[in-house]
Amino acid sequence: MKERFLEPFRGMHEIIEYVLPKDMPEFCLGCKNCFFRGEDKCPHAVFIEPIWNSILEADLIVFAYPVYALRAPGSVKALLDHFCVHWMVHRPEKEMFSKNAVILTNSVGAPNAAAQKDVMTSLNWMGISRIRRLGIGLMEGVIWPELSEKRKAFIYKKVDALSRQCMNLKKERMRIKVKLYFALCKKMHEAGLKSSKEAFLDDLHYLNNGWIKDRRKQNAANH
Ligand SMILES: Cc1cc2nc3c(=O)[nH]c(=O)nc-3n(C[C@H](O)[C@H](O)[C@H](O)COP(=O)(O)O)c2cc1C
Repeated sequence: MKERFLEPFRGMHEIIEYVLPKDMPEFCLGCKNCFFRGEDKCPHAVFIEPIWNSILEADLIVFAYPVYALRAPGSVKALLDHFCVHWMVHRPEKEMFSKNAVILTNSVGAPNAAAQKDVMTSLNWMGISRIRRLGIGLMEGVIWPELSEKRKAFIYKKVDALSRQCMNLKKERMRIKVKLYFALCKKMHEAGLKSSKEAFLDDLHYLNNGWIKDRRKQNAANH
């Protein structure tokens, strides 16, 4: 499905692919260095940084994975855990607000929605508004060569339609759900900056991006 989806893009656009768990073989250790000291202090920065930089530069982000035990495979979740620092509640990047993403999944026969939701939730919280999804149950076999030509043609048709929808790579407008999350996060960080003695990286990130006002002086003057 992934190869077929990317076929029309090949030769026309640069495609950067990462394979899990090879390109990010570590679980988050819960050290919280990313939150308190900076994401460059993550013990797995050597794996995470190149992937995150590729995501920031990408016009289209594609996640492709099989359904394992009705959910996303652990290797995908391990990657997502490392991106939590870029959620809107922490330090989102403005590039994410206009991006498009695609989630491609397959199972033998189980519904795919719950497995897609793991990635969808993360991408939404990272600020991506437009996420297209395609999930397929192979049905006739466990591996691709076991499928009949008819079944393969049906899957190709669905994948091709999705590819066509994504071809223009246009920037997306921020949708209402993401706007709402972001507005709440702005309020939270403005209040955080005003009330705490020591400014947290997350609050400063919001301040430096011009998303919130610095009310610390006003607060000090009132006392
Ligand atoms: C550990 C494991 C768990 C799986 N769990 C499910 C499942 O819950 N439901 C399902 O329909 N298929 C399940 N599968 C089958 C995969 O979704 C299937 O291998 C996939 O469709 C084929 O993709 P692949 O060729 O990329 O491995 C599981 C496979 C593995 C290895």
